[in-house]
Amino acid sequence: MDKKQLKISTFNDALDQIKDGMIVGIGSGSTIELLVPKIAEKLEQEQINITGVCTSNKTAFIAKELGIRVVDINDVEIIDIAIDGADEIDNNLNLIKGGGGALFREKVIDAMANRFIVLADDSKCVDYLGQTFKLPVEVDKFNWLLVSKKIKAYDNLNVIRRMADDVPFITDNGNYILDVDLNRNIEPAAMHEYLIHLVGVLETGYFLDVADQAIIGTEAGVKIINK
Ligand code: A5P
Repeated sequence: MDKKQLKISTFNDALDQIKDGMIVGIGSGSTIELLVPKIAEKLEQEQINITGVCTSNKTAFIAKELGIRVVDINDVEIIDIAIDGADEIDNNLNLIKGGGGALFREKVIDAMANRFIVLADDSKCVDYLGQTFKLPVEVDKFNWLLVSKKIKAYDNLNVIRRMADDVPFITDNGNYILDVDLNRNIEPAAMHEYLIHLVGVLETGYFLDVADQAIIGTEAGVKIINK
């Protein structure tokens, strides 16, 4: 199976957890973009309704086009369940997210949800965070270069400002993303603490102790890891 099929293989276990009347956090990325039409199909087939809150403008657009009711995050008090992808998942269900640049809204929604489930193919499973993917950090445009130097100073780290074609990538919040090359010796909680206190950093792509369940598509079948 290719990666797309492995991602799709996780959907039934996720869809089963969506119930009538729920407020559902709908994540971002290619996995979720494949899932959203399946959510719409489920609502139609079972004649049920949900309210979606979305982690990116793109996902909100897709969901609305498919007839899913989508509201602003400030219009809900709770989120029953959030479903999202990930760029890396370690053995303790800690994640790196933000490959699509939506990490801030993902952090707000995934952390607020009563239950947060992650869908991924098994290429996302790693021994340590940073093994295969750089850590995205969302920063204000104003002092991004100074922030980048401070991040580099943590452990002589390579830090690059994310580009989209020939121009800097801009998030839905109007900010830049710095991608930080981590190494095995970097302790995620300590690194997150360092980063989050730098003036100019909005949020980091570390999702530590946030996920309740990972549903992983593998060649041998779907693997479910619970917190
Ligand atoms: C978006 O900012 C990311 O956090 C995505 O959730 C993550 O990159 C997973 O994306 P894919 O589903 O495309 O692998």
